[in-house]
Amino acid sequence: MLCCQFCMWCNPKKSMKKKFLKRFLPKIIRSYQPLTLSEVFQKGLSRKDIYEIMDDFYYQHLPWQFVEHRKYFSKNSRGFGEDAFHSMWYLLFSEFKPVNCLEIGVYRGQVLTLWGLLTKHLNYRCDIGCISPFSSAGDSVSKYIDTVNYLDDTLVNHQYFNLETPEICVEFSTSEKAKLFISQKKWDLIYIDGSHDYDIVCQDFESSLNNLAPNGIIVMDDSSLYFDYPPKEGTFAGHPGPSRVAKEIAQNKLNMLGGVGHNNIFQKI
Ligand SMILES: C[S@@+](CC[C@H](N)C(=O)[O-])C[C@H]1O[C@@H](n2cnc3c(N)ncnc32)[C@H](O)[C@@H]1O
Repeated sequence: MLCCQFCMWCNPKKSMKKKFLKRFLPKIIRSYQPLTLSEVFQKGLSRKDIYEIMDDFYYQHLPWQFVEHRKYFSKNSRGFGEDAFHSMWYLLFSEFKPVNCLEIGVYRGQVLTLWGLLTKHLNYRCDIGCISPFSSAGDSVSKYIDTVNYLDDTLVNHQYFNLETPEICVEFSTSEKAKLFISQKKWDLIYIDGSHDYDIVCQDFESSLNNLAPNGIIVMDDSSLYFDYPPKEGTFAGHPGPSRVAKEIAQNKLNMLGGVGHNNIFQKI
């Protein structure tokens, strides 16, 4: 039958279609295997729905070794983060295949080892670098265990997952040595997750932007306070410092691809 103007389905005033799409589209998308990360962001879904998709992806589609990896870092306070972020990183690496990757702010190596495993799984070579003091210094908002040597533990965790050691710069991101380290190459991916103070996150963002490759990606952690994201129970939207930088600076200087929970993803076009 041809489309008509009068039935409940086609008449926009009666809007059954709109209601149907609003209610069931996220569920329909979730039940299918893999869209790309960009496709998920382009569906026009709410951040809450995107988060649900990532959460479902973790349980339904994420290859088992990444679930095991997440479980390992969830034990004994080895890492922060949420299951949905493992899905985000999986989809991001699958789609963009970044080669030169930098993490600013390392705890015990959860993200570094995840990146290493992802590139092994995707069968391409990636150069991974990081900048961190490898101590709880410089972070006034997170809780850390003081009995662990973070640098040693990060190295042990790389051995545990049978991964090469990344290039490590044991510094605060704002030091001269760290700035030199960032400027040694153009990065395809930079993950900003160090200090949560506004002034320092501003500096991290600026030096990341200056050393980002064409089409390069910046992921900002803890930065969704000022986006429309009501956090699910057990999750949180971020801290004021990174959230202000994401909303007021990153969003204007880069193309915002989208956000998963308190992570926001920007691309240089
Ligand atoms: C929330 S943790 C990072 C978690 C990390 N994404 C992971 O799982 O490995 C933040 C880390 O950033 C470090 N940090 C604080 N200020 C920093 C700065 N200015 N530059 C680099 N790292 C910094 C802290 O020592 C802390 O270990």
